[in-house]
Amino acid sequence: MLFHRSKRAFAALFALLFLLASAAQAQGTKLPNVTILATGGTIAGTGATSTTTVGYTAATVGVQALIQAVPEITKVAKVSGEQVFQIASENMGNEHWLILAKRVNALLAQPDVDGIVITHGTDTLEETAYFLNLVVKSKKPVVVVGSMRPSTALSADGPINLYNAVNLAGSPSAVGKGVLVAMNDQIHAARDVTKSNTTTTDTFRSSELGMIGYIQGGKPFFYREVTRKHTVDTEFDVSKLDALPQVDVAYAYANVGDVAVKALVASGAKGLVHAGVGNGSLPAKTKPALIAAREQGMVIVRSARVGQGIVARNGEANDDQLDFVVSDTLSPQKARILLMLALTKTNSTKEIQRMFYTY
Ligand code: SIN
Repeated sequence: MLFHRSKRAFAALFALLFLLASAAQAQGTKLPNVTILATGGTIAGTGATSTTTVGYTAATVGVQALIQAVPEITKVAKVSGEQVFQIASENMGNEHWLILAKRVNALLAQPDVDGIVITHGTDTLEETAYFLNLVVKSKKPVVVVGSMRPSTALSADGPINLYNAVNLAGSPSAVGKGVLVAMNDQIHAARDVTKSNTTTTDTFRSSELGMIGYIQGGKPFFYREVTRKHTVDTEFDVSKLDALPQVDVAYAYANVGDVAVKALVASGAKGLVHAGVGNGSLPAKTKPALIAAREQGMVIVRSARVGQGIVARNGEANDDQLDFVVSDTLSPQKARILLMLALTKTNSTKEIQRMFYTY
């Protein structure tokens, strides 16, 4: 009798242990696979002391050390890391973007990769994010993240930003939203975000158009949809590209002349973004050089240095007559990216204008 009872108790205990083990395993297998691609920046930076928040060295800590510094991420994702570059982001170039985009596309094509986090310097983070937003061919989340304080600083923002970014990249709610930027507990769309302050941790802003969500307790909360086309819905394909056409920016200011525009024409640029004053106005001493550049085949995009608002087509210049393109709301640095990609497809200003109203 006693023997039978203890046999039953043993069987029940065994069944319970089996259920607990299976539940734990199921829990484990549910974790998303997130790959962290490290490129350098302040998030991987080190300073001489814990109070060194300026004058530190960016891009010194490797990806494995970044991951190990935030053990909490292993509870929310199965994380692997790759060191793609180790640079300060002021040195980010078109060649880096092509390598990075191809790696992102290759990883996202793998069924065992659910999302990607890219650690990046903040200085050109918005540009890399927008480039990827136009060329990544997957709906899976791609999250670009950085930090304003080096890893050695008091209250370094890198660890929490990385934790949030991994959560976001592994979240089904981030699928199909285009490339996202996760900084300071906020989620920004790649197209509209910009660095707005030289040093503070709340520097990333989408300003008038607004961020699209928050991350709280590691959980993303979205409040807005991105309306411009991106990722799988663009016409751009970098898979066979090993270079991008030269496009540069000429900046307008009081008393500006035509030296920069003429130098860019002489350097062989295929396209030029004019960062005009106000609503993209063209100073009289610059305009003839821009017209001459267009006559020689260079595509001119009229943008604004203001930072907000639509550059009105045929507003401050007769774009139809000049055969210029307007940048819509894109900042000059992002207009440069779209123009480069546009020039890989066409030289038609009509088509390029369509792209500026699409992406
Ligand atoms: C960089 O952009 O690489 C340096 C600055 C930063 O990451 O905040």
